[in-house]
Amino acid sequence: MRVPDFLTIRDFTTAELQHLLDLARDIKAHPSDFGDSLKGKALALIFEKPSLRTRVSFDAGIHQLGGFSIYLSPAEINLGKRESVYDVAKNLERMVQGIMIRTFAHEIVEKMAEWASIPVINGLTDSSHPCQAMADFLTILEHKGRLAGLKLAYVGDSNNVSNSLMFAAARFGTHIAIASPEGYQPAPALLEWTRAEGAKTGSVCTVTADPAEAVDGADVVYTDTWASMGQEAEADARKAVFRPYQVNARLFARARPDALFMHCLPAHRGDEVTDEVIDSPNSVVFDEAENRLHVQKAILLELMK
Ligand code: CP
Ligand code: NVA
Repeated sequence: MRVPDFLTIRDFTTAELQHLLDLARDIKAHPSDFGDSLKGKALALIFEKPSLRTRVSFDAGIHQLGGFSIYLSPAEINLGKRESVYDVAKNLERMVQGIMIRTFAHEIVEKMAEWASIPVINGLTDSSHPCQAMADFLTILEHKGRLAGLKLAYVGDSNNVSNSLMFAAARFGTHIAIASPEGYQPAPALLEWTRAEGAKTGSVCTVTADPAEAVDGADVVYTDTWASMGQEAEADARKAVFRPYQVNARLFARARPDALFMHCLPAHRGDEVTDEVIDSPNSVVFDEAENRLHVQKAILLELMK
């Protein structure tokens, strides 16, 4: 890979991202062909926030490639408090061959990547979740057979997940319609980047406060929690603001009959999505979760081989 770390979708060209999806499909179809690819290599997993999918998929993924992981909980590192990010980077580069990090400020992963001489992978920050977006676009590709020209509606809070979806949509030529309340819409600088880069692939990004407008005729309807990790104190206030943005059967019916329902998980059933939608035949949420494994194996392979 031209870029030594996987911090944001924006760092990669369409061809590079497409290559990762192709490799992920190959790994998914023929997992045993890749069993020794990272033999003996160690991946540090730094978690400053909770996780099910990210932890299990990176842990299982590196093992399946012949390597192994070392899990570091918030209590163990206490990043920036017990020890500086610089010192953690300088220690880990002497002992392991890669770092996956889930943390709060995006600048922390950027600093880790700058200071560590080994690959650093972003496993979610407050502002992005690039591995999730790659798994999501792999899932859409599997179900729809293409990415360019499709309409993805994202309904709810503009957050780390929707930011990475916007960037990936721009790269893959997918239209993205975001419905968020005023005050919870994408940052202007991120929208500007998405629209400028999207113009090169034919992707159009629209933003509205009206969920029906975004979902009308969509090929994919995506939502996420109304209060992300770190925003727990705002959860009750956010419930009131986001109530009209619930993806329920009535809203979902505005999408195409063959539309996919997607969610990065964990889901808060009865809040951002109802059981009838997330448990419907249109829902591919567990395909997305599984594809974290395959797409991250492709990323690990490209960065650590
Ligand atoms: N989607 C996702 O990243 O899940 P976890 O928070 O459980 O890792
Ligand atoms: N937006 C959510 C995603 C969880 C995978 C959060 O940051 O908590």
